[in-house]
Amino acid sequence: MKNIDLSNLSDIAVQSFSALENDRTRQLVQKLVASLHEYAKDVQLTHEEWRTALSFLHACSDISSASRSEFSLLSDVLGVSSLVDLLAGKPGATPGSVLGPFHSAGSPWLSNPVNLIAANEGTPVVFRGRVCDVEGNPLPSASIDYWQNANNGLYWQVDPQQATDNLRCQLQVDAQGRFEIATIRPVPYEIPTDGPVWRDLVQPAHRSSWRAAHAHVIVAAPTYVKLVTEFFDSEDPYLEADAVFGVRGPLVGTFKTTQDPELCRRHGIEGDTCLVMDIELRLSKNENE
Ligand SMILES: [Fe+2]
Repeated sequence: MKNIDLSNLSDIAVQSFSALENDRTRQLVQKLVASLHEYAKDVQLTHEEWRTALSFLHACSDISSASRSEFSLLSDVLGVSSLVDLLAGKPGATPGSVLGPFHSAGSPWLSNPVNLIAANEGTPVVFRGRVCDVEGNPLPSASIDYWQNANNGLYWQVDPQQATDNLRCQLQVDAQGRFEIATIRPVPYEIPTDGPVWRDLVQPAHRSSWRAAHAHVIVAAPTYVKLVTEFFDSEDPYLEADAVFGVRGPLVGTFKTTQDPELCRRHGIEGDTCLVMDIELRLSKNENE
C-alpha cells in the first residue's frame, strides 16, 4: 500500500494519468491536475470552501440545458474564452473574439450586398468592408457568417416575436473581397442574470452585466485560418466594461454619416445619408495546409 501524504499526493495524482494514450490529452489532464493541486496548496483550501465550489458547479449544471450553457457563461466571465481566442491569434490577422451562445449553423445564404433590415425597428446602418490576407491582398474566396441582436437586445432564437433567422445570414464576398451588409445598429445587452454565474460570482464582484454592442462574424476562406470575431461601435457606453472581455482595439469601428444616395436607395434607407462603418478583416494563412 502506498503511503500517501502531503509530500507525494500531487505527484501521484498527476502520474495516475500517465497511461492516457493521446499525447495532447495526457498533457492537458496532467497539467490541469497539477495546477489544481498547486492552487489548493497555495490558498490552503478548506473542506467548506471546496464544498462551496462544487455546489456552485452543481448549480451551473442544474440551470444548463440544450439551449443554455452556464458553463460557457462561466468561461466567458472568467476571461478564459477570450484568452483562448487571443492564444489562437496570428500575427497580422484580425484578432478573434467571443463566439457567444447564439451562433448556430445553417444561416441562410443571401446575395452580397445584403439587406437584413426587413421589419426590424432600430437605426439603419451599413457595415461595409473587405476580407484580405495579412498583406492586404483581397480574398475573393472568403465567405462570412454574420449574426447580431435585434433592437430589444435579443437574438431571434430566444425571442418568439422575431422571424426565424432574423438578422443573420451567410454571404460570399465579391471579386475584390468586399461585402456590404445593411442592418440595424446593434444594441448592448445583458449576460444572463438568473443563474449562479451572475448571482454568486459576477454581481458580488460589482461587475457590469452588460456586453458592449457588437455584431458577430465567422470569416472563412480555403487554406486560411478561420476567424471568429465581433466588431464593436466606438460610441457604445460599455466598451470599457464588456462583461466577457471581448473588446479589442482593432475590432472597434466608428459609424460615419455618409452621403451616398445610391447606397441608401439600394437598401431602402430613407434620405441620402446613412451611418456606415468600414471594416477590414484580415486572415492568416493556415500553416497546416
Ligand atoms: Fe452577441
